[in-house]
Amino acid sequence: MKKIVILISGRGSNMQSLLEAKLPCEIVAVISNKADAGGLTVAQEHGIATAVVSHRDYADRAAFDAALAQVIDGYRADLVVLAGFMRILTDGFVERYRGRLINIHPSLLPAYAGTHTHERALQDGVKIHGCTVHFVTPTLDAGPILIQAAVPVLRDDTPASLSARVLHEEHRIYPQAVRWLCREQVWLDEQGRVASNRLEQPGSALVSPGLS
Ligand code: GRF
Repeated sequence: MKKIVILISGRGSNMQSLLEAKLPCEIVAVISNKADAGGLTVAQEHGIATAVVSHRDYADRAAFDAALAQVIDGYRADLVVLAGFMRILTDGFVERYRGRLINIHPSLLPAYAGTHTHERALQDGVKIHGCTVHFVTPTLDAGPILIQAAVPVLRDDTPASLSARVLHEEHRIYPQAVRWLCREQVWLDEQGRVASNRLEQPGSALVSPGLS
């Protein structure tokens, strides 16, 4: 069974969705760069080992990433799952885990890479927004896409209400992506593209606002 390490920085709701998804893998540890991340308590309540590697203890990104990699490799992780991990990783770290490092991002990439995705979507007046699970590559939020979910943007949405609608979908697609990777139904191929066995195709389009 594949071993998974989850990296967090905060509340860890995506991490929790993974812990509760009964995945065909062993979640061996949750690591945070912040000692006060709420997700650490949730992980401990689930009986998962936790560790803190604080970026403040290291002189630069490379030193922090080296320390982080050492802890991850101590758990013999096959897959490293970023779940609200708010540090930019060095190219060296990303290369070390090529095809084994994934992230979830709260937008339909390549739209709205970076932060404040919900505010920017509302500002632009887009009618459909969503979330993306992707392999991590050196360019921020630009790696090959594994799965996306789209949600409608509603007339009276605020960043908070839109974020909640997107987060609900995050909690559905992240476990799915991890399940595929654990079962080797999807993978990163030699050309850096997502390859897969035959996966379910969606049945219908999302039209927003709805047709009347
Ligand atoms: C999520 O919106 C995720 O997409 C982004 O950071 C947020 C983390 O939330 N990368 P949580 O800690 O999983 O609740």
